[in-house]
Amino acid sequence: MPAKLPVEYSRIDEFALITLNRPEALNALSVQVVKDIGAAIDEAAASDARAILITGAGEKAFCAGADISEFMGRNIVEAMAATELGQNTFAKLDSLTIPSLAVINGYALGGGLELATACTLRVATSNANLGVPEIKLGLIPGYGGTQRLPRLVGQGRALDMVMTGRMVGAEEALSMGLINRIVEAPAVDGAIAYAREFAGYSLPVLRYGREAVMRADQSALTEGFQIERDLNTLAFQGEDSTEGATAFLEKRAPNFKDR
Ligand code: CAA
Repeated sequence: MPAKLPVEYSRIDEFALITLNRPEALNALSVQVVKDIGAAIDEAAASDARAILITGAGEKAFCAGADISEFMGRNIVEAMAATELGQNTFAKLDSLTIPSLAVINGYALGGGLELATACTLRVATSNANLGVPEIKLGLIPGYGGTQRLPRLVGQGRALDMVMTGRMVGAEEALSMGLINRIVEAPAVDGAIAYAREFAGYSLPVLRYGREAVMRADQSALTEGFQIERDLNTLAFQGEDSTEGATAFLEKRAPNFKDR
């Protein structure tokens, strides 16, 4: 029997599926798991997949965060390196041509929620619990959470979550914009149905749209309008924009070619 891998990479039709596969530890992120996630993201990026889905094995958790059993005795250099590895690995998702979707099938805590918030979009089952409980360990989030959370849900809600460490359920997460959809189990099926709503559109144009929206948080308004003008103009240069308008005028479905 082949050895069980802590991170599995597979394909479902046109989508890459990355599965955190340590259900006995609620899919906790050991340093090795973070490295394996990075390798799996690279593999998906080099493939013809049209989106990456990331989920957790088992019934209970997407991911319960960094592996706490590795914290003991970590010196300052090791602590900094682990944080940097987590931040840099999850940031790979930002610069990918293809979008990513976190499929939250239970707990998404600490580094687990940070992985989910690094994805382009998030779906969760109704039993999901999301939070950044690091404060209960005498810590703060370290894989990007203090920066991505306020950008997603606003400073007040992010402060509430970081300072109390409380978990929010799927309904509350939806209402605060922390997730995009609630899906029924099996969550991967719901996520694929969601991904199919956009995966047939032009990949470069999807990327321009993602980039313009993401850069809104990092730009002054006039600079943001400039970014939008540039990316919109780029989209107009693509064959897919000609195809989109032609198909509309000919009253038929467009046939995009990612060009
Ligand atoms: N690291 C290592 N092991 C973990 C873990 C983690 N983050 N979370 C759960 N586990 C392990 C447990 O130790 C347990 O293992 P054993 O069976 O060998 O004892 C197993 O997974 C099942 O967990 P529980 O028995 O605790 O399950 P539960 O249903 O009673 O509780 C839970 C579930 C509320 C999620 C609880 O496990 C929990 O609070 N986990 C820790 C969550 C956490 O603090 N996450 C933040 C980590 S720090 C971080 O992520 C920093 C960062 O920014 C990167």
